[in-house]
Amino acid sequence: MSGRFITLEGSEGAGKSTNVDTVCETLTEAGIDFVRTREPGGTPMAEALRDAMLHKWDESVDGITELLLVFAARAQHLSHVIRPALAAGRWVVCDRFTDATFAYQGYGRRLDLEKLAALESWIQGELQPDITLYLDVAPDVAEQRIAAREKDRMEVERRDFFVRVRQGYLDRASEHERFEIIDAGNPLQEVQAEVRLKTSEFIRRARRG
Ligand code: TMP
Repeated sequence: MSGRFITLEGSEGAGKSTNVDTVCETLTEAGIDFVRTREPGGTPMAEALRDAMLHKWDESVDGITELLLVFAARAQHLSHVIRPALAAGRWVVCDRFTDATFAYQGYGRRLDLEKLAALESWIQGELQPDITLYLDVAPDVAEQRIAAREKDRMEVERRDFFVRVRQGYLDRASEHERFEIIDAGNPLQEVQAEVRLKTSEFIRRARRG
């Protein structure tokens, strides 16, 4: 069986980290060899770019700077982690990928979607996730869940930004069959059960070829 590329997406407060754990547990139980990673990040240099991108600078951060930082980190991550793992037949579980760029920089920051698509095809070529689990949660619920957290530069954005981010994900999901939308407004245990089910179904399909 060749390697498969699984991504998880969702706004802050959607319970993404716990559900990445759930995907990884399901793969381990199925005896699948995988790499767990995240974006922006996944290599020492890409993690440094992540820190630069999330840091609360004393100057405003231009949307284009933000966009190029996430794609710079992605280029490094693809060449050092994602492509080598897939080429070796390993699975890759990635906490966020380019759908986040469309949602946050495209819809959130209102950057030109055609330019994003051009960067996407330049940096990734034909590579796309095989399945994307999108944890969907209403911005007001998400806001309550992260209220007590120390927030990074993205998390301090206002509600209307997250309303646009969510719309970005939903539009992207309607355009790409690889998306599974999971209602992350439900209690965490129910969300995890659904994530486990979707992952198991995907493993079964992959095994059938
Ligand atoms: P997280 O991994 O803890 O969710 O944090 C990553 C943050 O970076 C989150 O606010 C979403 C944001 N982000 C973008 O804005 N664009 C991107 O392309 C990616 C991968 C993440």
